[in-house]
Parts: sequence; structure tokens; C-alpha cells
Amino acid sequence: PVSVRVADLLSRMTLEEKIGQMVQIDRTVANPGILKSYFIGSVLSGGGSAPLPKASAVDWINMINEYQKGSLSTRLGIPMMYGIDAVHGHNNVFNATIFPHNIGLGATRDSELVRRIGAATAVEVRATGIPYVFAPCIAVCRDPRWGRCYESYSEDHKIVQEMTEIVPGLQGDIPADSLKGVPFVGGKKKVAACVKHFVGDGGTTKGINENNAVIDRHGLLSIHMPAYSDSIIKGVSTVMVSYSSWNGEKMHANRDLVTGFLKDTLRFKGFVISDWEGIDRITSPPHSNYSYSVQAAIQAGIDMVMVPFKYTEFIDDLTNLVKNSIIPMDRIDDAVARILLVKFTMGLFENPLADFSLVNELGSQAHRDLAREAVRKSLVLLKNGKNGTNPLLPLSKKAPKILVAGSHADNLGYQCGGWTITWQGFSDNSYTRGTTILGAITSTVDPSTEIVYRENPDSNFVKSDSFDYAIVVVGEHPYAESSGDSMTLTMADPGPTVIKNVCEAVKCVIVIISGRPIVIQPYLSSVDVLVAAWLPGTEGQGVTDVLFGDYGFSGKLSRTWFRTVDQLPMNVGDSHYDPLFPFGFGLTTESVKELVSRSTSAGVGQKPYILANIVSAIAILYFTASRGFRQPT
Ligand code: IFM
Repeated sequence: PVSVRVADLLSRMTLEEKIGQMVQIDRTVANPGILKSYFIGSVLSGGGSAPLPKASAVDWINMINEYQKGSLSTRLGIPMMYGIDAVHGHNNVFNATIFPHNIGLGATRDSELVRRIGAATAVEVRATGIPYVFAPCIAVCRDPRWGRCYESYSEDHKIVQEMTEIVPGLQGDIPADSLKGVPFVGGKKKVAACVKHFVGDGGTTKGINENNAVIDRHGLLSIHMPAYSDSIIKGVSTVMVSYSSWNGEKMHANRDLVTGFLKDTLRFKGFVISDWEGIDRITSPPHSNYSYSVQAAIQAGIDMVMVPFKYTEFIDDLTNLVKNSIIPMDRIDDAVARILLVKFTMGLFENPLADFSLVNELGSQAHRDLAREAVRKSLVLLKNGKNGTNPLLPLSKKAPKILVAGSHADNLGYQCGGWTITWQGFSDNSYTRGTTILGAITSTVDPSTEIVYRENPDSNFVKSDSFDYAIVVVGEHPYAESSGDSMTLTMADPGPTVIKNVCEAVKCVIVIISGRPIVIQPYLSSVDVLVAAWLPGTEGQGVTDVLFGDYGFSGKLSRTWFRTVDQLPMNVGDSHYDPLFPFGFGLTTESVKELVSRSTSAGVGQKPYILANIVSAIAILYFTASRGFRQPT
């Protein structure tokens, strides 16, 4: 059994070798010699470190195998474990499939789909020789002002819990006889997962990243903890600690929650990893004291430290703390046993070097089709027709002339958002392969349709031409972590002007590309159709699939859409709940095919889109009546 192998190996390790296993360094400071000399346990490509732009899967494999050879040449030959953020597909690699960010997946309400996305992501990550991902983020974002809100599936913990199905997607299904809390990774097409950020990251005051979460124990355990419990039952291998504090205490130093609750009460047997320089932030200037931070973090129960640069200082400090009996040897043994358990379980000792057998799976058509399915299921239709009548959807593919406008219509970087190729994302079409929304419109409409594209058309231009309708794609620019914190949640300029110029002159469909609900109330009355598309990723055709009626709209808000930012935080169930669109809202439409078959069987109507409009109107009236909710205008 694996436990015997762990105990045997541990018994043969020196203190130096043990402490090395607890260290994770960044790729940019790693080389085979360092891995060998310091017995380094793990290497990462961190979000904040330099990316490997346009490197192929083969380049990645060669680089990682070089590092691995350093680890394998140590006395005991313990393999290192390479980790990377793959939070919506293998988002660090040119040419990978980029799936919608979690906020969109929450809107699908489809945990089986999310599980398949986990499996596809695992294969693409493994295709580049990497066995470990820092995903999924299972934060319950309670305030959209948080710059990481899009990494959260929902404000509702039950939806986040359901979406932990991504864990067996990434790692494989735990065997039926598995003991609770024991990690599991099932073979060469699977990766070790990491649920993050433990715990309460989505509950900080005003949604400020890394801030303090002021919440009582019952609130913490009932809102933010359940998805951890579910992930542990599903065999998750690792847990990352949050930068945030809980009632003033840094999570990286919280022994009660990390050891007491996570390891003892929930019986988590995998390893706990810090966030990037997370332990450094336990103390802050002018009282920074790295040795104290190391002590507090290891005593709290952190097993592996994402150092990521000052590994010699960390190793020296931890060695001294153990030699001076400040940190007991038992704690080190517990940490290293957990790390070895994951490495043995995932087969790293048997297969330490990556091979090239999966390289063709990176960005495969099957994965892109899956991402396209996810996009169309994630879109939430917020409005379909002025005053809730005269629905415009589905759009005609045969209109003589249409206008496409907005800065987000032809920009893959904007469409993918943060954590795509680089930490903060990118803002053009040069990096990853995919289809922009403009590209998708072009390939969907009839060749006879004239498409006019203007990023920022002025009103005279729109008025002087005769467009059948316009599709305007606007929203937020990419961001990640603290740079995305926003107290105003406004649409990026010139989005509001484009909406005004276009929608005053022609029937318009507004597609919002954003990582969260943003301010839209001021524009609502002028638009005919409003679609929340979140951050859909590389497959823009998922958007046109539903706009043009090849499929129906089915997504439901996984968050509350506020009217004004001064209402925030506002979540479903709150006493002051007065949303623009409530949690769970989402109009539905039928596909043209469904409408045609219905009209044929009923013997009515030749023009499917007219019938679709009627069905949509009925859907709106039904929704309005059943929820006692007034459709905003
Ligand atoms: O995994 C991430 C984490 O979510 C935020 N800080 C950096 C880590 C590594 O990139």
C-alpha cells in the first residue's frame, strides 16, 4: 500500500531532504542543479511569473523533463511535481482550449458539463507534461466588486458545491473503497487538483482582494466551507490557503482552521499549499520578520510553501526552527508524508518523465466543441424585446445588412479575460487560437448578408445607413486578482457611447463581456436584446449558436445583478434584496429547429423566427407572473 511506501521513504530521509520537499519555487529561478542541490519538491509557473509565450507542448515537456532529471539525480530520486494555474482550461499555453470562466459555468447549472471540462483540462495540461493544477477556485463570491469574482461559480454555496464535480473530472473518480479524505489521481490523463483559497476568500469586506472577512463562525462554516468538505469527499489532492484574513487573523497563520478544521475535522489527508509569497504577508512592514512568518505558517499546518523565489532563506529559517525545537519534527514528517502520499498516488515515481503521447490533444476539435457547448449554455438572456415585447431573437441569418460594433466584438483577449496566457490576460488576437464573436457571426450568417464592422461608430454613421439590426459587444477589459477590484463596476469606455450611438438608431443586441454583473441600468431601456456572456473563452461560436437560434438560451444567473453599486453587497436571501435581475433569472428561447418542428406538427406558421418571438414573449410573461418580478425596461 501507498502508506507503507510513504513511511519507508520518509524513514530514510534527512532533515535537509524533508525540508526540500516542502519548497515550491518558480520556474524562472529553477534549474536542474538547484532542484538537485536543495531537493526541491515542486516547481511552478506562477500567474505572476513570466509566461512562456507561444511555446509548444513539446517545448514545455522538454523544459519540465530537464528539471525533473535534476530531481531524479538526487540520492533518493524523489520526483518533483510541476504545478500551474489552469483555471479555465490550460490557460498558460498558446493554442489550448480556453473554457468560460467559472462565473459562466455557474450559469449553466450543469455539473456534468463542468466535470467534462475538468477531464479535458487535465488532458491538455498533461499534454504539456504538467501533472498538477492550482484549480478549481471554489470561492463563494459574495461581492462582485472583488477582482476574482469571475473565478467563483456563484454567490450561492450550493451551486459551488455542485460544481466541485470538476474535481473528479480533473483527477478521476475515487475508488469505492477509498477512505474519506485520501487524495486520488487516476492515471496519466489526470492531474492533481487544488481547491482554493481556504477559506472565506470570497467574503472579504467590500470584495477587496486579500482583505479581511468579517463573518461569524456559523457563516464561515455554512457558506464558505461546504465546497471544501465536498471536494475532500471527492478525493481532492491539495488545498491552497487564502491570502485573506478571517476576523483579523491571517489564514496563512490560522492553526484552528487549517489543522483543526481542515485536517482534523474534515480529515483531509492531502497536502496544504500556501499562496504565492503568502507566508511573507503574515507579517508586514515595518515589522516584517520572515523567520516568524515561516514558523507561524508551518505551525498552522501549511505543508508546501509557494516560496517562490527566496528558497535559501526559507530553507535556512525552517531548518533553524526545527534544530532549535521550535517546530517539532513531527510537524515536518506530517507535511512531507502528505506530499509523498500525493506523489505516490498520482504515479509520479513510476512515471516521472512526461512523454509526447498526448500532444495532439492540446486544443483538439473535441475539446473546442466542448468549450462551445459550455459557452452557449452559460449565456444568460436578460432582455428580449423593448418593454418585454416584440422579441428580436432569434436573429435572422438572412438579413441583407447588419452592423457589428464594440471593442469586444473582435478581441480574443477581451473575450478570454484574466488568467489567459498571462496573469492579467491580453488585449488582442495574437496569442491563443480561437474564434472571436465577429468571426463567429461571419461564419454563421448567409454569405449574402453584408456585415459592417465598426469598433466605435458615431451616431451619424449608424443613422445614415440602413441596417436590419446591430450586434454590439462591449464590457470589461481583462484583469486578475487585486487589479480587478472595482468600487464602481462600470463598463469600459467607449462602451456606453457605442450603445447610445447604435441603439438610438437601429434595433440592437447588446452582448456584455464581463467577469461579473456591471452597471447596466442606465442603458437598459434603449436596448432590444441584452445578453450576459461573461468571459466565454476561445469559442465565440457558442455566442452565435444561441443568438441565431441554432440552440435556445438556457443560462440562469448564478449571481444577483444589482441596480446600483451602493446596494452592494447584496445576495439572494438578504433582507434588502432589490435586484435589477434576481439570482436565477434567465429568459429562455427555443431553437429554430424546435420551433419549426412545433409549427409543422401544429400546422401553423412558415416563418420560424416570428414564432420564436411569440414563444419568447410567452416565456417572459410566464416568468414575470411566476416570480412576481417586473421586467426592467
Ligand atoms: O494559484 C494562484 C493563486 O490563485 C493566486 N496567487 C498566485 C497563485 C499562483 O499563480
